[in-house]
Amino acid sequence: MKTAGTGDERRGGDQYHRVFLFRGFLVGFFIFCPLLALLASSMPVHKDPSFSVRVNGAHGLDPMSGPVIRPGFNLTLRVDNNQDFTTCREEVTVTVFYGGAVVVGWADVPDFCVEKRSSAELSVPLSHADVVLTNELRRRMALELRSGELELGVEIRLVFPKGQIIPWEWGCYECHDSSSRQSFQLCRAKPEQGYVPCQRLLLI
Ligand SMILES: *[C@@H]1O[C@H](CO)[C@@H](O)[C@H](O)[C@H]1NC(C)=O
Repeated sequence: MKTAGTGDERRGGDQYHRVFLFRGFLVGFFIFCPLLALLASSMPVHKDPSFSVRVNGAHGLDPMSGPVIRPGFNLTLRVDNNQDFTTCREEVTVTVFYGGAVVVGWADVPDFCVEKRSSAELSVPLSHADVVLTNELRRRMALELRSGELELGVEIRLVFPKGQIIPWEWGCYECHDSSSRQSFQLCRAKPEQGYVPCQRLLLI
């Protein structure tokens, strides 16, 4: 009379069990991995839109006629939206600087949206006022004009519309640990030299 299996029978049972587990693992692996990959690839891509600017038709940046200059130029703002959803911005303002601090142009840009996976070019007519330059800045501007190195700083302030939150990234708008709807882009552009990319300004 046997009340327990022999050692051989137990080993057989263990082996059967192991094979069974291994098969289960294989089946799970080959079903769940493609499933996960499919899920991951169908997640909408989130990547901040990129901004670039171009300075058009600059004139009046002429420091030799006197300390007062009358700048005149416009901008084109280009937005490349590589995301899988439309993105919008509102309360957009542009300020153009020379020499770090002298404001030579500014504009309010109408609210805009850019369709998913597309680009938009927005004309930004700028307002200008007469600008008084210090002697040092006049000298610098004259030198830079001659060498073609004149560079303008363009600061763009943009606001994410309320409610345009990215649904799978709760509480974040442009998703750099930022829960602020406002963001800034900074670009350094030389007149008539095509688009230059802007960089997101991180405020501390
Ligand atoms: C800038 O845009 C305004 C309005 O569209 C236009 O009147 C002006 O001539 C433009 N200036 C330049 C330098 O292109």
